Amino acid sequence: MCGIVGYIGPQNATPVILNGLKRLEYRGYDSAGLAVIQNSHIEIRRDVGKLTKLAELVSEIPVSGHVGIGHTRWATHGEPSARNAHPHIGMTGNVVVVHNGIVENYRELHDDLAAEGVVFSSDTDTEVIVQLVERFQSTGLGLVEAAEKSMQQLKGAHGIVLMSSLEPDKIVAARIGNAGGVVIGIGDHEMFIASDLPAILEHTRRVVFLESCQVAIVTRDGLTVQTLDGKPVRYKEQIVSWDPISAEKGEYRHFMLKEINEQVRSLTDTIAGRVDVDCGKVRLPELNLTPEFAKAISKVYITACGTAAHAGMIGKILLERITRIPTELQIASEFRYGDPIVGDNTLLLAISQSGETADTLAAMEEGRKKGARLWSIVNAIGTQAMRIADGYISMQAGPEIGVASTKAFTAPIVDLYMLAVLLADMRGTLGEKERRSLVSGLCMIPDLVGKCLDRHLEVEAVAETLKETRSCLYLGRGINMPIAYEGALKLKEISYIHAEGYPAGEMKHGPIALIDREMPVVVLAPHDPWYEKMISQIEQAKARGGTVIAVATDGDQCIPSLVDHVLWVPDTPWLLSPVVTVIPLQLLAYYIAAKRGLDVDQPRNLAKSVTVE
Ligand code: G6P
Repeated sequence: MCGIVGYIGPQNATPVILNGLKRLEYRGYDSAGLAVIQNSHIEIRRDVGKLTKLAELVSEIPVSGHVGIGHTRWATHGEPSARNAHPHIGMTGNVVVVHNGIVENYRELHDDLAAEGVVFSSDTDTEVIVQLVERFQSTGLGLVEAAEKSMQQLKGAHGIVLMSSLEPDKIVAARIGNAGGVVIGIGDHEMFIASDLPAILEHTRRVVFLESCQVAIVTRDGLTVQTLDGKPVRYKEQIVSWDPISAEKGEYRHFMLKEINEQVRSLTDTIAGRVDVDCGKVRLPELNLTPEFAKAISKVYITACGTAAHAGMIGKILLERITRIPTELQIASEFRYGDPIVGDNTLLLAISQSGETADTLAAMEEGRKKGARLWSIVNAIGTQAMRIADGYISMQAGPEIGVASTKAFTAPIVDLYMLAVLLADMRGTLGEKERRSLVSGLCMIPDLVGKCLDRHLEVEAVAETLKETRSCLYLGRGINMPIAYEGALKLKEISYIHAEGYPAGEMKHGPIALIDREMPVVVLAPHDPWYEKMISQIEQAKARGGTVIAVATDGDQCIPSLVDHVLWVPDTPWLLSPVVTVIPLQLLAYYIAAKRGLDVDQPRNLAKSVTVE
């Protein structure tokens, strides 16, 4: 959700913070602000709207200093407005805070503080944090102790960064609960703080991720980490290999288009080092998978949200087809309250681009409580979903900035495929010939995706015909059914056109009533085991006067005569076909939204990491 940046060091903090926020704007973009200690005094600039508004404000009324914090907001409590934008300052003006998360008991704390005479100046839950810290500070405590005492009173999950004009030599950052990641970047006599890596990668690759219930005291030259009750903690520094350039837009108009095009590389990276084509083997060492456990697994639950859940739906089919282990996909927000049946040999596999989605983390906690083995497939390195798991697969997709997820959709499909091959191999249920053939199919994928991308002009031409449409139906079957969901999700997220994904066989049980000349139908009909069925689905849609756009395999002789437009994809082993069929649908959604003149990378009301329930 919200993005947080902090800086302490010899540079002017203002541009460092603005730059960092720019790289985190995908996390929230309804308002933004920063605070800098200038001449022993806290100076705040904040405004509603995108970061450019804040940048304008800062150039009109400049502010500079060597220590500062900033925030880009996705509103939860209080409408987007300048007074609700972070940073929030306490009543005495000594302490300022930025925050990611929800203070679940804020009403209680607010009323107690108000009863003591505290006057609040925003409608946010966040403000109670800073008012609490100031109250403890006024009893004679230093910033760190006051912060710790305050945090002990907060319910919910948070990333919090604070500074005080009374102690301008430090920034205090804390992480409470699962959501609200905090990463500290270690520079040369300077330190960076952020909710997420892209904000600091251009400055340093040396990072420390805070664990839940840890407080970091950050000075120019050092970092101390302790628990919420002040006990010192030994932290681990990590070197991050992500390329900061890959978090730049470069020649592309939007991050989303860049990320769609990066899939040849991200899929190559996903496979690299993990498959041995010569012996037809897969290696996933971070899973910590023993032969005993591989054989013992009796059930797999896959859990995730949004696009990651669509990848999970495909994972269910892959795992069941290749390993024959019963597998269920449950949306994380349902899993956590669904009283799932978990036995000793149940595996819970969470998929998350950000690694910090609140529902997914809560589902993992629930699985842990019930005794499941926890694995995760995660893109953002060092995040909670990676760290709390017993084993993980790192997606290798690189930073994904566009709010609509693309390359972090195809990477986990390939991960799930590799996992299925590995498990089946370790369980002794996969013959050598079949294993070799599955692995060799995998190696073709980046190239096949490249071929889809080469056809972007054809997709753009179809987008031109659809850009004014008001509603769109996506149909798929079998392993391409989740692609119907994903295609529809991409379109609605960024173009605000109503779109529905449907299992094609269900069309006749309802959605067929919607089909007329005004209602385009996108049909996934590649050469997979459901091809014949999809042909009759196309006939049924055409018989009702619908405009049909088909995703079809090169060389198909039948489809062009039946439909209005064809989006061609190369012939692909059917178990991997979703990785290919989704590409034209990502491009279609992108071009439609771009042609409608919309903000593709930061669609309204959405956020990239949803760290609240
Ligand atoms: C948000 C994003 C989606 C994403 C979902 C799950 O809703 O807008 O693009 O698929 O969260 O995110 P995760 O980081 O857990 O994959």
